[in-house]
Amino acid sequence: MKNIVLTGDRPTGKLHLGHFVGSLMQRVEMQNSGKYDEIYIEIADSQATTDNADNIEKIRQNVIEVALDYLACGIDPNKTTIYLQSQVPELCELTFYYLNLVTLSRLQRNPTVKQEIKMRGFETSIPTGFLTYPVSQAADITAFNANIIPVGDDQLPMIEQTREIVRSFNSMYGETLVEPKAVLPENETCCRLPGLDGKAKMSKSLGNCIYLSDSPEEIKRKVMGMYTDPNHLKVEDPGETKNNPVFIYLEAFAKDEHFEKYLPEYKNLEELKAHYERGGLGDMKVKKFLNDVLQEILEPIRTRREEYQKKIPEVYQILFDGSKKAQSVAAETTAKVKNAMGINYFEDTDLINEQAKKFSE
Ligand code: TRP
Repeated sequence: MKNIVLTGDRPTGKLHLGHFVGSLMQRVEMQNSGKYDEIYIEIADSQATTDNADNIEKIRQNVIEVALDYLACGIDPNKTTIYLQSQVPELCELTFYYLNLVTLSRLQRNPTVKQEIKMRGFETSIPTGFLTYPVSQAADITAFNANIIPVGDDQLPMIEQTREIVRSFNSMYGETLVEPKAVLPENETCCRLPGLDGKAKMSKSLGNCIYLSDSPEEIKRKVMGMYTDPNHLKVEDPGETKNNPVFIYLEAFAKDEHFEKYLPEYKNLEELKAHYERGGLGDMKVKKFLNDVLQEILEPIRTRREEYQKKIPEVYQILFDGSKKAQSVAAETTAKVKNAMGINYFEDTDLINEQAKKFSE
């Protein structure tokens, strides 16, 4: 069996550090490992319409931002197919048939959808497109025969839904679709980077993110303003590192080489943490170090982004080419699906002959 990787993002904003550690880094690694037969990344603009129907302009503006962020991080369109969901109409077609395999109550039980409904205040009037987006996500995945889906843990219910659809399709119409598996980021801290304000998650709506496209000055300003241990008032005070976002970020990003380069009094993060915990280490010094580390990591990404920003039509061309390629694969799967269901009338000569015979008798 081929190893086919697929994942995606809704284009509702620029990508931030949370996306970087949670998924982008892993995607680039997978891409460059040479271990996978095919890799697809979907810009899920159609899915984004399910809760932005009144603001399509937001999606229109952010498609290119997300594409630039991918390219900036090192996603190589020669190795990874980047495509736009809306430009692959077969995905809608598959969704329509899969909808018959899922009950309303099953969709209403999906924990991610439930939480999103609450967050968006949809409780009293849920758009059906929104409620059914997990089914469309099953189309995204199965259209490419993808078996490896690198995602954050919030997406596990979507992958489970896809697996259920695959199983019921295959048992109803015969082995046709491939059952996918979710792959979570290896490192715990990477699963969910807290916001600059210490809130559980970096999120655009909370305004607590460092964006991959932030300027060096913005990064510095944001790091220097980060929430730390509120009880660590004076330098001498012992501080807490556990729920302290500055240390959580260092956990995710700082390597021993960074200490050697920027903070040689300490060998590694363990030593720095120990000092902070026993007291005598000020927040400023730790934040300065974090700033140095982040600047070093983000600089090449920002530079590459700026290069692509100079050739926007070329970036749209990359998306066009990726979408064309994706469409041809999705069309093959859709043909298989319709064949399995027996709704491929014009290719089915047996059916035509059988009907001809029936009416001539
Ligand atoms: N639902 C995903 C998110 O909100 C985006 C997405 C769309 C996706 N299609 C996908 C993820 C297919 C993995 C596979 O982040």
